[in-house]
Amino acid sequence: MNQQRPPLDPHPLSEYVAWAGSRNREPLLGVLKEKLPKGPGRVLEMASGSGMHINYFAPHFEHLHFHPSDKDQSVFDNIKQLSVDHSNDNIADPVHLDLTDPQTWFNPGSPGSFSAIFCINIFQVAPISIADGMMECASYLLDDTGILLIYGPFQMEGKFTTDSNREFHDTLSSAGVSEWGLKDVADLKKAAEKHGLELKEQIDMPANNFSLIFGRK
Ligand SMILES: C[S@@+](CC[C@H](N)C(=O)[O-])C[C@H]1O[C@@H](n2cnc3c(N)ncnc32)[C@H](O)[C@@H]1O
Repeated sequence: MNQQRPPLDPHPLSEYVAWAGSRNREPLLGVLKEKLPKGPGRVLEMASGSGMHINYFAPHFEHLHFHPSDKDQSVFDNIKQLSVDHSNDNIADPVHLDLTDPQTWFNPGSPGSFSAIFCINIFQVAPISIADGMMECASYLLDDTGILLIYGPFQMEGKFTTDSNREFHDTLSSAGVSEWGLKDVADLKKAAEKHGLELKEQIDMPANNFSLIFGRK
């Protein structure tokens, strides 16, 4: 894997997204080893993209069953191929889940049927309005002790936590796409609150990213 940062490109199968994933998947695995259930359960990934994360994590949790999803169904073949290539038999076929379309929230499973949900690097290239759907959908799918882990770079209460995050925000903003840019954890907390969830833990991750862990109030 090329260690140089490729040009910014949010397409889920781009070189840039693969590069970001190759840097964050090991630290994220460390968090999941602490936070995922030790007994049997089902784990949903929202916005799976290429499927590189779910296919990296699944072999470390043979007692869990993993469910990839995305709004973009053109990535499904890639996710399935990775599962075959890695002989991951605890990963289901991907399902269509669009965080802006409540009709698709039933696709992964019935209410309360997931122990955990994770979602990696969506907010810097999606509007903050998807937070509402994400929290409502998570509240619907998680069991009583379930967790939602959101990973990415964020602002905190209107402030950038580092100069590099401000620079990244400026780079995203200069691309001319109105919804690109670092979102604020305060807005995620507000959306969570509306749907019976709250921020339980905020974990500092490498390269000025965060793992935000939400659960029921
Ligand atoms: C930058 S990619 C990140 C993909 C993957 N999580 C990763 O880190 O490699 C953003 C992903 O969010 C998905 N996405 C964007 N809007 C979405 C929505 N409303 N509902 C579900 N997925 C969405 C895109 O299709 C894309 O796969």
